[in-house]
Amino acid sequence: MFTARSAFSTIGRRAFSVSAQQNSKVTVLGAAGGIGQPLSLLLKLNTRVSDLALYDIRGAPGVAADISHVNTASKVTGYDPAPEKLKAALEGADIVLIPAGVPRKPGMSRGDLFKTNASIVRDLAKAAAQHAPNAKLLIISNPVNSTVPICAEVFKSKRVYNPKRLFGVTTLDVVRASKFISEVKGTDPANEEVIVVGGHSGVTIVPLLSQSNHPSIDGAVRDALVKRIQFGGDEVVAAKSGAGSATLSMAFAGSRMADSLLRASQGETGIFEPAFVESPLYKEDGCDFFSSKIELGPEGVKEIHPVGKVSPYEEGLIEIALKDLAEDIKKGQEFVKSNP
Ligand code: NAD
Ligand code: LMR
Repeated sequence: MFTARSAFSTIGRRAFSVSAQQNSKVTVLGAAGGIGQPLSLLLKLNTRVSDLALYDIRGAPGVAADISHVNTASKVTGYDPAPEKLKAALEGADIVLIPAGVPRKPGMSRGDLFKTNASIVRDLAKAAAQHAPNAKLLIISNPVNSTVPICAEVFKSKRVYNPKRLFGVTTLDVVRASKFISEVKGTDPANEEVIVVGGHSGVTIVPLLSQSNHPSIDGAVRDALVKRIQFGGDEVVAAKSGAGSATLSMAFAGSRMADSLLRASQGETGIFEPAFVESPLYKEDGCDFFSSKIELGPEGVKEIHPVGKVSPYEEGLIEIALKDLAEDIKKGQEFVKSNP
């Protein structure tokens, strides 16, 4: 297990009586990329992972050879880009993480990535539907608000869709929210948990500070903090000046999400993570998918928690988020219908 467990803290963790098992296959599609490499390394450190399958259109065998020298028990295999290799990478997987696709450059929105990443994610989802239909699918590739609906449509078309097993990874938003609020309040981020709801881009990211340890944050400080959480990705894109977007913090967040699902699937209870999942909460507003606090269980999603009591200010943020979110979701759904 991870040693810095407190840094991975999730909401409402409870005592755990089942000992950790080393019997899970985890597959990373896009494993040689900026996120894929550190994510694969973190997964190699996770003793719940027994078999780590690394696939990319270039470079995965090299990454696998490198990571395989880390002296933890799991077996690491790298796969070249060929249909039979992709099949082998996916077969038997408990969890499939997809960080494949292009990242943003300064001046781009996540939506601008759609034209390249939609078909990459659609094709990888087709392979996952065929070779690992029962795996939990964790989508990192942007725009998450659209790539998750793309995966759902692909799985539906193959008649293997189970909404409990499809997750858009929004963990980085809560990781950032926890860190940024701690900077404002001068506290330890390990003790700061902020629920973030909505989607994963700009104004669709809605932190619920009223439910944090600091509900009285208000005025200009609150506005600046909310904006920083919503546009935290832009800070990294600007700082990397054209060399991509968040990779290391994303690897940390993706690894935390995978670990939470592994723990839940191995019998641990009381595990909560936010994630962008098919959700009943705002279907009437055209949002078939929504990120809120999710309790994880052996099947994946165990319970979707409602947003709960929010301030009038947050109500306004949610209203704005829903409009963009509905459009992003529809874009993904329609893409698969017209480009099956
Ligand atoms: P990157 O360009 O460094 O890596 C992407 C990798 O995907 C490359 O190695 C590339 O070869 C591979 N790839 C491309 N097409 C593929 C295919 N068909 N099959 C397998 N592999 C393929 O990019 P990155 O920085 O790792 O970012 C990846 C994606 O993650 C981007 O879309 C980025 O916007 C997104 N992202 C999401 C979050 C989030 O919070 N969900 C955070 C950061 C980045
Ligand atoms: C992030 O939030 O860092 C990612 O979605 C990458 C990006 O494009 O900002």
